[in-house]
Amino acid sequence: MANLQLAELTTDNLFGALRLPPQADDKEPVAPVAWSIAEAYVNPTAWPRVVLDGDEVVGFVMANWDPDEEIPEFRAGIWRLNVARDVRRRGIGRFAVEQAAEEARRRGVDRITALWVPGPDGPEEFYLRCGFRKTGNLLFDELVGELLL
Ligand SMILES: CC(C)(COP(=O)(O)OP(=O)(O)OC[C@H]1O[C@@H](n2cnc3c(N)ncnc32)[C@H](O)[C@@H]1OP(=O)(O)O)[C@@H](O)C(=O)NCCC(=O)NCCS
Repeated sequence: MANLQLAELTTDNLFGALRLPPQADDKEPVAPVAWSIAEAYVNPTAWPRVVLDGDEVVGFVMANWDPDEEIPEFRAGIWRLNVARDVRRRGIGRFAVEQAAEEARRRGVDRITALWVPGPDGPEEFYLRCGFRKTGNLLFDELVGELLL
């Protein structure tokens, strides 16, 4: 997809972000975007962004940048990533990861983490294809992956 860009949440794109999966009763290994935005509201180190294809919201990514965080795995990394179902496997998730990596570099960070639910229904293969490697650690029952920048 050629026309992707990352944007901050605005009154214009908020509802597009809230419509991304999962919605009530959906089974997906990620929290609803509404939860993430609520967390970002109370957490000043959170970095929520929408992925736009033109004017359309096709994805949401939330990273966290907090060098003082006690748990190293949460100092710099991707907390959430949600891509609209009808446009998966077209590079939107990879674009979001690359944008988060770019932001990390801007901040002088040389490693980002991601945690994922293990198993065939989780996003492990996606993260590995984006360059993450498994660290072998588990946190809150999720696998910890890292991407060295
Ligand atoms: C996981 C998710 C973010 C991937 O987004 P996407 O836009 O479909 O991913 P991309 O098209 O950028 O894929 C990048 C690479 O990963 C691969 N990939 C993506 N999803 C995959 C899957 N489910 N199984 C195997 N490979 C997968 C693609 O084939 C592509 O590989 P290649 O470029 O080497 O050929 C999306 O499926 C999603 O939102 N899933 C539900 C929520 C979730 O699991 N979020 C992550 C947890 S925080």
